[in-house]
Amino acid sequence: MQSTNTGRAEHLLTVNGEQRRVSLRPADTLLSTLRDELGLTGAKPGCENGDCGACTVLVDGVPMKSCLLLTTEFVDQDPPRSVETVEGLDGADVQRQFLQHWAFQCGYCTSGFLMLVEGLRRQQPEANRDERVDWLRSNICRCTSYAELIHAVEAVLGHERGAPRSS
Ligand code: FES
Ligand code: FES
Repeated sequence: MQSTNTGRAEHLLTVNGEQRRVSLRPADTLLSTLRDELGLTGAKPGCENGDCGACTVLVDGVPMKSCLLLTTEFVDQDPPRSVETVEGLDGADVQRQFLQHWAFQCGYCTSGFLMLVEGLRRQQPEANRDERVDWLRSNICRCTSYAELIHAVEAVLGHERGAPRSS
């Protein structure tokens, strides 16, 4: 860590598999670091209070709300903590299924839901329907496209079990 006279200090943060140098104040949230420091604007500020999930990212493979996390908790670790954002999902199956099932309308919540569903795929690929619905409860879509979201989740987890692709 290298301190500066602005109250900021230089740290290393691992995002989407790359080690990035970031200049932090102690109270910076992970959401603000990703967006303002690294230009990764996929995680969205919604409520900034832990309610909506628009800011969801994966930390060590687990979905977390980045507006509630202090970046300093995740820097300069050995082994490094892994932060993943929607930018790192480019071309992933979850993204294709959201598109195929129209699991979005305005799209503001979509990056958060993509990370949430990717987390479900990794953490609980055998989740039953009730568990899938429960998993989605941590995020809010104001356009109410929940039926399409569930269809996309079923397609993603179906692939995990080797089920045929839905069209
Ligand atoms: S912006 Fe983080 S939960 Fe709403
Ligand atoms: S698609 Fe608009 S808030 Fe979810």
